[in-house]
Amino acid sequence: MNLILMGLPGAGKGTQAAKINEKYNIPHISTGDMFRLAIKEGTELGKQAKEYMDRGDLVPDEVTVGIVKERLAKDDCANGFLLDGFPRTTRQAEALQELLSDLGKSIDYVIHVDVPEENLVERLTGRRICPTCGTAYHVVYNPPKEEGICDKDGSQLIQRDDDQPETVKNRLAVNIEQTQPLLDFYQDKGYLVKVNGDQDINVVFQDIESILEKK
Ligand code: AP5
Ligand code: MG
Ligand code: ZN
Repeated sequence: MNLILMGLPGAGKGTQAAKINEKYNIPHISTGDMFRLAIKEGTELGKQAKEYMDRGDLVPDEVTVGIVKERLAKDDCANGFLLDGFPRTTRQAEALQELLSDLGKSIDYVIHVDVPEENLVERLTGRRICPTCGTAYHVVYNPPKEEGICDKDGSQLIQRDDDQPETVKNRLAVNIEQTQPLLDFYQDKGYLVKVNGDQDINVVFQDIESILEKK
């Protein structure tokens, strides 16, 4: 199963990806997570990505396509993969088509998690993440059992650097601009399915499951 999860910042891509990964056991490939890890480790990639991410801008296509290319060539992608947050521009989508055709693979579904724009600022500014295991919580919609503490490993939750209100505004604007051409691109290819992301997290997942069960 080769899947792409699309959606604006805060739509719930990462939240649903974790559930898909748990149930179907296909690798979750998030370009945002890869960049954050590189920043944490202080690698060259991290240095390249940081200035863009801090502003809420997109990292240049060449850099992003390069890391996805390396990642998709790994053995664990043999039976499927789940891309989260890539592609994000038409150029990236075209590069992915080429990459996949070189690898003899194709996309099964592009799942668009659709959430009204007016809900996204609150989702992002209320998000808290675990620095140890990466689990995302929300102070209102998905709180941990104990405030500020990860349910899984007891770590102190933190806020993502780019979830500050000023950066959030720019992230949303940048991504909104790129989204429609991408949706059109995948609609034309017949891969696109839309899921209502403005529902309880588990209901969104049930809707995704019912799409995947048809496969
Ligand atoms: P990335 O990390 O991908 O960030 P993003 O696209 O802005 O998306 P988010 O991770 O913020 O949101 P999400 O949809 O995963 O939501 P989540 O599940 O956490 O990218 C970060 C940066 O890296 C980019 O800005 C860019 O600079 C760079 N980058 C990455 N990919 C790139 C690319 N391809 N090209 C160029 N640059 C790239 O949920 C959000 C919150 O809502 C959580 O608190 C969660 O608990 C809550 N929530 C989730 N679902 C629900 C629900 N159904 N109801 C209520 N609350 C919910
Ligand atoms: Mg995410
Ligand atoms: Zn944790």
